[in-house]
Amino acid sequence: MEILQSTEEMIARSRAWKAEGRRIGLVPTMGYLHRGHRSLMALLRPQVDVLVTSLYVNPLQFGPKEDFSRYPRDPEGDARACEAEGVDLLFMPMTFFPANFRTQVAVSGITSRWEGALRPGHFEGVATVVARFFGVTQADVAIFGEKDYQQLAVLRAMVRDLAMKVEIVPGPLVRDDDGLALSSRNVYLTTEQRKRALTLHQALFAMQAAKEKSVEERLALGRRMIDCDQLDYLAVVDADSLEPVEQLQGPARVLVVGRYGATRLLDNVELQ
Ligand code: PAF
Repeated sequence: MEILQSTEEMIARSRAWKAEGRRIGLVPTMGYLHRGHRSLMALLRPQVDVLVTSLYVNPLQFGPKEDFSRYPRDPEGDARACEAEGVDLLFMPMTFFPANFRTQVAVSGITSRWEGALRPGHFEGVATVVARFFGVTQADVAIFGEKDYQQLAVLRAMVRDLAMKVEIVPGPLVRDDDGLALSSRNVYLTTEQRKRALTLHQALFAMQAAKEKSVEERLALGRRMIDCDQLDYLAVVDADSLEPVEQLQGPARVLVVGRYGATRLLDNVELQ
């Protein structure tokens, strides 16, 4: 596996691959890779000629009071994980944005609720960095985990609206043995917080199983079960628009974010 730290070299490499007619796959990450990230690499590997994983902790998507400076980092462990998953090139840019960078990609509507409402500027930061990753790597296909369900919806909207030549593939959420959704931020949890955090997925699964109950009753059931310091939201939403639904008519999703101290944990499940 090759490691590139220069954005200019990455641009040159992807142009060369394109000229040779190779199909390029991209797994964008912020590092501190876990089994969830690895499952994305494993899913994409057989679909492409060259598999690129990017590792960049993107400052644009962190708010001023968020954990950018203490975001967990383990570049050596990450390189080993990529190698084991058959990644051809690990792109870890030292500087990713040019000095006079002045473009922002903003997707409206679908970003107005949930994470978008609670983290102003977050999705602009995500869409902007991902758009540049698509340009730099010339990816034909890129994979994003369903764990960040709204992020996936935002990026799909961006690709469609801007007619970007990249296919977006969703990767199923991966859980730890105890059921907690895998996240690089799980390392922040104390033993006690982690135990209480298990009520998040337990509540979601109970809401999923309560097929005879109305949306309102399922939400009440979920709220009773969740033990967290602050429930940022628990919502039943349309699987595409992410607008809240009062009755189940088509594909829907339950989204939840609970806080444990300063750590926000996201989870979601399919309904129906
Ligand atoms: O999901 C993430 O890790 C990040 O939001 C992403 C897509 C790599 C953009 O920085």
